[in-house]
Amino acid sequence: MPEPRPYYSDKGLSAAFYDLITAQDASLAGDVELYASLAPAGGSVLELGTGTGRVAFALAEKGLSVLGLDIAPSMLAQAQTKHALRGPDLAARIRFRRGDMTALQLDESFDLVICPFFGLAHLPAGAAWRNVFTGVAGALKPGGKAAFHLPRAESLAGPAPPRERAVLQVSVDDAGRRLSIFVHERKAKAAIGRFDQVVDYVLTDARGREERRSRERLTYYVADPRPFAEAAGLRLEGAPTPLGGVGEVHVFAKP
Ligand SMILES: C[S@@+](CC[C@H](N)C(=O)[O-])C[C@H]1O[C@@H](n2cnc3c(N)ncnc32)[C@H](O)[C@@H]1O
Repeated sequence: MPEPRPYYSDKGLSAAFYDLITAQDASLAGDVELYASLAPAGGSVLELGTGTGRVAFALAEKGLSVLGLDIAPSMLAQAQTKHALRGPDLAARIRFRRGDMTALQLDESFDLVICPFFGLAHLPAGAAWRNVFTGVAGALKPGGKAAFHLPRAESLAGPAPPRERAVLQVSVDDAGRRLSIFVHERKAKAAIGRFDQVVDYVLTDARGREERRSRERLTYYVADPRPFAEAAGLRLEGAPTPLGGVGEVHVFAKP
């Protein structure tokens, strides 16, 4: 078996089937409504790690203008394809751009910055997080808010499920093809907030024969975001809001 590829890489199945998989993910239920409630009506939103635009399109449907930034071409390409298929009114409220959230260089400011579905947890909680928060503080209008959805360490630290038991199975088409996801390996270094997983994505035909397999490496870094936000001049807005049982959304404001 070749080396695991990084999550969301060009030839990986995690990127190819991202929308199908997240549509089944109960841990994301209610996230769009939560982000929408943080922005003024018709306001502007910067989404860090926008992926395929799952949240960006939903916020634009609520009348917000969204700039979605992502580092992975495989994810952005899907967002752009969906964008081209939308009506002109909605499409006019969304822009996607390739970029690294640790090095934000924007010549505009926003009412709200969001980093949904553990986006920040893909980066080590040191200089990278510091750079993200500095960039976010610079990109917010005075009074603007920033929301980061992060996993809780306890939800990642448990024992790995048996290798042979799929943690998720989804039907990918009407011809009976299925995608199954297996956890191949899980290593928790809870003391330093690092959680490594190797995950197998397996595509099978209607008779259960394997068509394609993609072994992918996913690392989450978990830490308290408050010191990073405060160092960047952002103020904590109340206690984090629990979301989906495994994570919570931390909200900050620019004074
Ligand atoms: C779990 S996906 C979330 C996608 C979308 N926000 C959602 O909620 O469905 C995380 C995204 O963060 C992106 N990402 C990871 N590191 C990044 C970085 N340094 N800068 C920008 N995007 C990054 C990944 O490419 C991926 O698309």
